[in-house]
Amino acid sequence: MSENKPPRHIAFIMDGNGRWAKMRNMPRENGHKEGAKTFRKVVDMCKDRGIDAITFYAFSSENWKRPKHEVDAIMLLFRDYLIDALDEIVKNDVRIVFLGDRTPLAQKLITLMDEVEQKSKNNKLLLNIAINYGGKQEIVTAVNKALKEGKTEITEEDIQNNLYTVLSGDPDLIVRTGGEIRISNYLIWQSAYSEFYFTDVLWPDFDEKELDKAIGAYMSRQRRFGGLAESGDLGGEKL
Ligand code: IPE
Ligand code: IPE
Ligand code: MG
Repeated sequence: MSENKPPRHIAFIMDGNGRWAKMRNMPRENGHKEGAKTFRKVVDMCKDRGIDAITFYAFSSENWKRPKHEVDAIMLLFRDYLIDALDEIVKNDVRIVFLGDRTPLAQKLITLMDEVEQKSKNNKLLLNIAINYGGKQEIVTAVNKALKEGKTEITEEDIQNNLYTVLSGDPDLIVRTGGEIRISNYLIWQSAYSEFYFTDVLWPDFDEKELDKAIGAYMSRQRRFGGLAESGDLGGEKL
């Protein structure tokens, strides 16, 4: 029996690119390249399914620990996507927003990100891209913003309203590919009542069938938000 409507907001942890490449005796960079293709396809699939918001973990605040050539390759793929996105803003009807601390990124990239955000802001499907993102860092930033507004005592609303996800709200469903069962500093505040779906499928292999499996699993679950199923009013976040 289906318990839930389809998720309005899905967040993805795109993991397993490196292992996908290793299995093929290729450099890790090839895995990221393939992963970037999957990302583009999954955006289209979510659009076809009428989802309101999607969030992708592209680069964590901890991913700087990787070799420079790998970080550079990821940043180049990100830049290529933004250049294409800028070209296709009207056709794609996707509103792109970036989550994370952009200050350490290359100035040219930051300029491109600003332009993409600005030019896509009237589009429909909300696409959050988490880049140099860390959940702990995000909460600290939110608290500091609230303090700057003159707050002396911080409430849950102060934090919620100052998160990078202010437009999309919290994800209903978090999908992690690549077999690890952990959150890796992703949306740690926002996932308080999210449903989780973990799969061993490596991100470059994630396809339509896998997406529908994740959505199906979500729809078969019952969300209670601390309440009781019998009461009929389970509450939950409104987008
Ligand atoms: C996820 O794939 C992509 C990023 C972290 C940017 P990984 O690169 O972590 O792939 P694995 O986990 O090593 O296979
Ligand atoms: C999480 O994957 C970050 C992204 C997908 C961008 P990682 O591969 O960095 O996570 P850990 O190191 O296995 O926890
Ligand atoms: Mg990984």
